[in-house]
Amino acid sequence: MKWIYSVSLAASLVIQPALADDLFGPHPINEQARDAFVSDLLTKMTLDEKIGQLRLISVGPDNPKSAIRDMIQKGQVGAIFNTVTRSDIRAMQDQVMQLSRLKIPLFFAYDVVHGQRTIFPIPLGLAASWDLDAVSTVGRISACEAADDGLNMTWAPMVDVSREPRWGRGSEGFGEDTFLTGQMGSAMVKAMQGNSPADRYSLMTSVKHFALYGAVEGGRDYNTADMSPQRMFQDYLPPYKASLDAGSGGVMVALNAINGVPATADSWLLKDLLRDEWKFKGITISDHGAIKELLKHGVASDPQDAVRIALKSGVDMSMSDEYYSQYLPGLVKSGAVSMAEIDDAARHVLNVKYDMGLFNDPYSHLGPKESDPQDNNAESRLHRAEARDVARKSIVLLKNRLETLPLQKSGTIALVGPLADSQRDIMGSWSAAGVAKQSVTLLQGMRNATAGKATLLYAKGANISDHPGIQNFLNLYEKAVSVDTRTPQQLIDEAVEKARQADVVVAAVGEAQGMAHEASSRSELNIPASQKKLLQALKATGKPLVIVLMNGRPLTLVQEDQMADALLETWFSGTEGGNAIADVLFGDYNPSGKLPVTFPRNVGQIPLYYNHLPTGRPYNPTKPNKYTSHYYDTANGPLYPFGYGLSYTTFKVSPVKLSARTMARHGTLEASVTVTNNGARDGATVVQMYLNDPVASISRPVRELRGFKRIMLKAGESQTVTFKIDEDALKFWNQKMQHVAEPGKFNIMIGLDSVRTQDAQFDYL
Ligand code: NOJ
Repeated sequence: MKWIYSVSLAASLVIQPALADDLFGPHPINEQARDAFVSDLLTKMTLDEKIGQLRLISVGPDNPKSAIRDMIQKGQVGAIFNTVTRSDIRAMQDQVMQLSRLKIPLFFAYDVVHGQRTIFPIPLGLAASWDLDAVSTVGRISACEAADDGLNMTWAPMVDVSREPRWGRGSEGFGEDTFLTGQMGSAMVKAMQGNSPADRYSLMTSVKHFALYGAVEGGRDYNTADMSPQRMFQDYLPPYKASLDAGSGGVMVALNAINGVPATADSWLLKDLLRDEWKFKGITISDHGAIKELLKHGVASDPQDAVRIALKSGVDMSMSDEYYSQYLPGLVKSGAVSMAEIDDAARHVLNVKYDMGLFNDPYSHLGPKESDPQDNNAESRLHRAEARDVARKSIVLLKNRLETLPLQKSGTIALVGPLADSQRDIMGSWSAAGVAKQSVTLLQGMRNATAGKATLLYAKGANISDHPGIQNFLNLYEKAVSVDTRTPQQLIDEAVEKARQADVVVAAVGEAQGMAHEASSRSELNIPASQKKLLQALKATGKPLVIVLMNGRPLTLVQEDQMADALLETWFSGTEGGNAIADVLFGDYNPSGKLPVTFPRNVGQIPLYYNHLPTGRPYNPTKPNKYTSHYYDTANGPLYPFGYGLSYTTFKVSPVKLSARTMARHGTLEASVTVTNNGARDGATVVQMYLNDPVASISRPVRELRGFKRIMLKAGESQTVTFKIDEDALKFWNQKMQHVAEPGKFNIMIGLDSVRTQDAQFDYL
């Protein structure tokens, strides 16, 4: 379903189904007219004004509004971020329009990653829905709310493929798979940019972090990435390309180095690949302070050197450091940087301002002053129904012994755990302008669901962590985690007492949102000890135990899997998270989410991902052999594989039917399965299609996702799902870095996760 937006008289946003599909897709820009306009403008600009356009300022303690006013007046600023109200934005645009010489409008950007005022599940959770319509809904509503706050650009989507659960920023991306990430990223770009970023309720996107940020060594944030060209082009670059092909106007440059070269200093990446090969016409923006960081990376000898390298490498706009403004004038004077290079960067900034419609109407996202919201956080500005619907779709049922779930809305239920009633945590990291007190916790959601029907008891049971260092870390920048000062034992005793009175225990455990964030790398992936002890004490009561996980990365859950009667992965599910989880717990919604990441058994197995290469000595668990590729102290495979997720009903997948046994060069082939809901409830599932090239000129992954489809089936209903395979799906980068499909046999595997599949074979001629 696609959406269009209209504004009601009360200025609250009303969503309506789109009337026609052709309302969508990138609106063609008249590039000739734009080039002529921008060229003309450049002739009128001084060097300082051009350099001013390259500066993106973050409003904050270092740059208070008063200081910015002066810079704006002098034409020394191109764009602003971290300002999110219409009145603040209007005041700054007024300064440009009233005080500056050339009146070149500013653009305003923000991290609108999974919602603006209404917060949706974190992107990793969105990916677990495998639902591109849901992603489009999130994109449209986020853009709509953000544009209604006066913003023009978002630093999203993040399409960094990551096979590194230790990395905290996996929460902001769409998981470990290239194809799924590319599909999600491009759906998000199309939805956010809508018909045109110039539209009243659209945002320009800025795809990040270019490139390979998800591959930082050891999962330690900002660390280096080192990679073969084949892996880079096959597995990590395609989602950026897909999001740019979807029309993204911006690219944010990654903070990490790639094969020794910081992305901010990588002219191969930002010029040869991005501009020359991929024909990107938009703007490149450094990440926060990245130009200064070239000194610490050890590739620039002094600030001038860093600025020269970044500009010449293709970084148009500098985020939050003053180096461009300070050093570019001197570098131009000395001839180290040419005027043509400055013009090139300034042109990209002016181009996107043109595309945002700002030269037509600098107030296009602001409207008349009288229309400014009285209350920026007004309830009427939220889209709760959509948030609840998307959140339900993102939840993954990992275990359900003897149909423990769904729960009855009767009897006594004990809800415990440090995440059961945390309004801040359920929103997840990068929750933009979302307000914690507007979010529905699991406690509130379960109260709403059981009111007048069941008795609900609650106890916190444990702190997120008892480790003072971790508590301090989590509360460093905001008072995010409240620490109960009772002793751990007192907290557990209270929870156990509640559990003893109950028919079933629900424990909400996992990570605080700050544990799955930028600069939140972990060396352990377990549930913190304080919460593990709570779970053990609850288990000892003998009551059925339902574990509700909230977290932003794959966790190691071997013990929890053993302890739990039912296990539900809910990620950080957003403003309506508590209601959505309660919908699933009580069976008002049948879970349909599938994991977009592999859950390892322990940290030592990392990296563990489903689409690995074969080895010469594969391990066969049914015929164990010492000299095969495995760990002797743990099972080889994951605890929960990629694509996995249960339902309250059961599905059966038929054998694969191929339209032909052979596929001609440049031809296509169709593969179908019939999926039957052979359980007692209606439910949705995700049919996944994987391919494998068993003999090729280089080893190819054991399987790779090449298609998926989410279907809804009533109890007893069947549906045939057909995937079309074309040559592109068979292609890979060979040793000579040619993108080829090699003739031979191909395996096709279709199933409801990446392990249990129906398999067939065809010949590609
Ligand atoms: C740094 C982060 O790496 C980036 O993702 C974010 O968009 C910027 N800060 C702006 O907040």
